[in-house]
Amino acid sequence: MNPAMSSWVALRQRVPFQAGQNVLVLGATGSAGQMAVQIAKRLGANQVIAAGRNPGRLAGLPALGATATVVLDGDADRVAGRLGQVAADVDVVIDYLWGEPAAAAMVALVTGRADRGQPLAWIQVGSVAGSTAAVPSAALRAARLQIIGSGQGSVSTREILAELPALAQEITAGRFEIDARPTSLTDVEQAWADAAGPAQRIVITPQN
Ligand SMILES: NC(=O)c1ccc[n+]([C@@H]2O[C@H](COP(=O)([O-])OP(=O)(O)OC[C@H]3O[C@@H](n4cnc5c(N)ncnc54)[C@H](OP(=O)(O)O)[C@@H]3O)[C@@H](O)[C@H]2O)c1
Repeated sequence: MNPAMSSWVALRQRVPFQAGQNVLVLGATGSAGQMAVQIAKRLGANQVIAAGRNPGRLAGLPALGATATVVLDGDADRVAGRLGQVAADVDVVIDYLWGEPAAAAMVALVTGRADRGQPLAWIQVGSVAGSTAAVPSAALRAARLQIIGSGQGSVSTREILAELPALAQEITAGRFEIDARPTSLTDVEQAWADAAGPAQRIVITPQN
């Protein structure tokens, strides 16, 4: 629920998201990012562009609904060029990264946008790449860019709770691929050690 909630609540509570709009998921390779790709698609997105630094994990995202992928690693100009090529005209960014990659992506999108008057809602959701980002002032002046956040506080507890039944229903109906490993509470020590490995969500279940 937690990784899924991040994009579900963001798209349903923080922006007037409409079916047919295009979404960039920045930091799409983690638990929440993989869910965001699927949830954006499920809520009717036309294009869902998945960006992350891990090419191996990115390669699995078209099967989850991503219409294009962008590798964020390597030469900065090449990354900006690719983002400008495939994601410049998106309507919404769901940002799990923040930090330097988010600031660079913002410039790439604003610069590459065909119509800078077209609203661009940048929803700040996670900060795995840094808690601060040096956002150039021009990015906010030169395009209709709005930076907002989504999480507890910007969305009230009541609003979050109201979203959960519908999301739980989608999950239990099997609409999403969820890369999680259920682990019994008795094996919690081993699960803790395993958590240092590849990012598969470990879910501790009660002992029987
Ligand atoms: N606001 C909300 O409602 C809400 C809800 C849930 C989660 N979150 C936040 O969302 C973020 C992601 O959560 P998660 O559960 O998806 O975590 P996760 O499963 O640990 O995934 C994090 C991903 O970020 C990638 N990553 C780390 N540093 C990066 C960098 N510098 N550039 C590009 N990718 C990088 C890692 O990919 P590789 O190592 O494979 O490259 C990893 O796949 C966290 O900040 C979390 O606190 C917010």
